[in-house]
Amino acid sequence: MPERVALYPGSFDPLTNGHLDILARARRLADRVIVAILENDSKTPLFSVPERIAMIREIVGDDPAISIRSFHGLLVDIARTDGATLIVRGLRAVSDYEYELQMALMNRRLSPAIETVFLMAKEEFSYVSSRLVKEVARLGGDVSGLVPEPVRQKLVSRF
Ligand code: PNS
Repeated sequence: MPERVALYPGSFDPLTNGHLDILARARRLADRVIVAILENDSKTPLFSVPERIAMIREIVGDDPAISIRSFHGLLVDIARTDGATLIVRGLRAVSDYEYELQMALMNRRLSPAIETVFLMAKEEFSYVSSRLVKEVARLGGDVSGLVPEPVRQKLVSRF
């Protein structure tokens, strides 16, 4: 059987425990998972792409089934060149649905052979987003339990 490769794209600025939970679930669905970090010129990130790659690598360890890369351009092009047939996205609340549906349908139009699958993280992470985590950390709040410890430490030293 051909290897099943999943692409897990996002900004991951920074990776949260919700992302990590989705990654673990994706890992069970696929032989390999590629975490693909968008290089987005229009957003000013807190962490550079190399910093985000290094943090995620530190957190996932040396699992050979997980690779981490950055990308620009169309996601479906990366999926094609990397041999991925699945795009994994996490769904939290209903409010995520509309944006995710639009992206999934657009990606399907661009590349019908690639399937988007939505995974639900543990309910305790359903309100956790990178944006809110950054806001809380910037204002001096405690984000332990919401992000992996190396991310918490980087947030504390950044603010
Ligand atoms: O974590 P995010 O910021 O919600 O992730 C968004 C992401 C990276 C999945 C999305 O912006 C994306 O796939 N960008 C690549 C550009 C693209 O392929 N656009 C057309 C399909 S919608």
